[in-house]
Amino acid sequence: MNTNRQWVLAKRPFGMVTEENFEYREEPVPEAGPGQVLLRNLYLSFDPTQRGWMEDRESYMPPVAIGEPMRAGCVAQVVESRHPDYSKGDLVQMLGSWQDFFVTDGKGGIPLTRLPAGITPRMALGVLGTTGQTAYFGMLDLGKPEPGQTVLVSGAAGATGSVAGQIARIKGCRVVGIAGGAEKCAWLKEEARFDDVIDYKAEHVDARIGELCPDRVDVFFDNVGGSILEAALNHINMKARIVLCGGISSYNATEPQPGPTNLMNLVVMRARMEGFIVIDYLPRFPEGVAALAGWYQSGELVHREDVQEGFENIPKTLNRLFTGQNIGKQLLKIADPA
Ligand SMILES: NC(=O)c1ccc[n+]([C@@H]2O[C@H](COP(=O)([O-])OP(=O)(O)OC[C@H]3O[C@@H](n4cnc5c(N)ncnc54)[C@H](OP(=O)(O)O)[C@@H]3O)[C@@H](O)[C@H]2O)c1
Repeated sequence: MNTNRQWVLAKRPFGMVTEENFEYREEPVPEAGPGQVLLRNLYLSFDPTQRGWMEDRESYMPPVAIGEPMRAGCVAQVVESRHPDYSKGDLVQMLGSWQDFFVTDGKGGIPLTRLPAGITPRMALGVLGTTGQTAYFGMLDLGKPEPGQTVLVSGAAGATGSVAGQIARIKGCRVVGIAGGAEKCAWLKEEARFDDVIDYKAEHVDARIGELCPDRVDVFFDNVGGSILEAALNHINMKARIVLCGGISSYNATEPQPGPTNLMNLVVMRARMEGFIVIDYLPRFPEGVAALAGWYQSGELVHREDVQEGFENIPKTLNRLFTGQNIGKQLLKIADPA
């Protein structure tokens, strides 16, 4: 408890992230000042957007500085409190970093929030966390699915995609998912109750969308971009909504990737393509939590977490998102609550 282990950003990546991009350090445990809490990290969230935070470029958040602990969503426990709103032992959620301990006053763009009673760290970072919220607001606010419509989701077996597709199914849509590999596709059909799935690693995506979506696609929730986005655009319906949630196929690209060659389909089909960043919905997160928790408790929404362990495994866990090794929401447990 005297040492604060850290993984700091050592070098900006070019292509896939390697362990050389990070450096292991040990520092003394910091002390909470007036109005601050000392937190101990319990669980880390791994998110594709962390790859973008490692780049020195303008984005929706500043880049992580060289020498700084790598930024990450986390659930932590209050070890010492000099803050009137938090007590020792409280479980909290925030945007933290890859280290055992840190101090905060709880303010900032993404504030410190206490986990509601009965909500585990895994749920807080998983189905009720950022990826669940992204699926909820992206699908409902931008996708606007209507009963009987056809909804296509890429990255469908992942944390965001699996929830997005199930929300569309709950809203009465026919849902087709695109994912990599037989195991993920089987889970989508059998557990998450997607109507159909396309294994993009084994099937011709464009042809299969045509076969499985005979009435064309009303909502495309895209996590992948690139050739999958292009294939989907070939099958959009009149007034379709294309929700640009992410484009993971290009996050490790070392040169600019070509855009879809068929954007004119948006014109012909009077369709709308729109991006979003979930943090803009922070004030509405309680609405998202209430809806997601309700569906989860009633069994309409299933969710998986992939929990790695060991502080030494933190850097390599990030790449599981880009190799598709993660089965559900990627987390890493550092410690159990005291
Ligand atoms: N807009 C926002 O505010 C927001 C917020 C959160 C997340 N996102 C985006 O949502 C997407 C999913 O994030 P997540 O956290 O839920 O991760 P995730 O889907 O749980 O994990 C990433 C998945 O992406 C797939 N993948 C990786 N490389 C790929 C490639 N080259 N082509 C096709 N698929 C690939 C893999 O699944 P397969 O095994 O199926 O290939 C992998 O399991 C990302 O694009 C992320 O940036 C956006």
